Amino acid sequence: MKIGVFDSGYGGLTILDKIRHHLPQYDYLYLGDNARAPYGSRSFECIYRYTLQAVQYLQQQGCRLIILACNTASAKALRTIQQHDIDPAQVRVLGVIRPTVEAAFTNIAPNRHYHFGILATSGTVQSESYCIELEKQFLAAGGQLPFLHIAQQACPLWVPLIESGEHNSAGADYFVHEYLTALLKQDPEIDTILLGCTHYPLLQPKIESELRKLLPERKVHIVAQGDIVAQSLQDYLHRHQDIEACLSRSASCTYLTTDSESKFSDHATIFLSSPVSASRIVL
Ligand code: DGL
Repeated sequence: MKIGVFDSGYGGLTILDKIRHHLPQYDYLYLGDNARAPYGSRSFECIYRYTLQAVQYLQQQGCRLIILACNTASAKALRTIQQHDIDPAQVRVLGVIRPTVEAAFTNIAPNRHYHFGILATSGTVQSESYCIELEKQFLAAGGQLPFLHIAQQACPLWVPLIESGEHNSAGADYFVHEYLTALLKQDPEIDTILLGCTHYPLLQPKIESELRKLLPERKVHIVAQGDIVAQSLQDYLHRHQDIEACLSRSASCTYLTTDSESKFSDHATIFLSSPVSASRIVL
């Protein structure tokens, strides 16, 4: 049995890459709904319906474990799918938001203020999923809410910029500056920024360099999700030996897209170090 990995488009490849680095032995089936991406500005109903179709498709392909490697789908569709649409005895669906937040808190220092900045799609920001999870985890780790500060900034132009391969261009500098300035305006004391969209690691070098310009006197910690999600999956498989035992181990990865297969193969090289070939499917 393969592990299913789903994203609206290419962003989930940043997660898949890290998962395969940490867990190379398993077989993976990656599905990018490129024909309908980006999801970030779509309605709850739409994202839920598209994500459910993808989950059902991956299940029909034999996946009993599916990772929503997309924050927007995790924020807007995961809970409903887990609660209403799947039988956990048949398939498990995991998201990327909870593991990211869990990793954000290790030891809570008493009387220290924590200032988080969330950069994400409009859909993820509107869902407030990161705020809800951060508050939950902060309380669970012994923190008190007056010490937790969260600012969110939607970055609607980053995904189209990255998907069109423009993330290293001078034009990207402008939009990185715009959104980071808007985030820091909400809270100038931000000490940790969560990249709450699986596409954003491609902009991380520009984000870091812009932060050095905007805040030359201090360093902001940037959290990207790939390694965190991979480690969380590793833990999950240790805790669920029944599922782990069903996974096939040929170290393979199959790529599926709902748009042109040649376009997928071309663009995937932006996200992955080696070339891949994809097959087109209809959801
Ligand atoms: N990569 C997806 C995420 O993590 C969203 C991209 C999109 O807007 O489709 O949120």
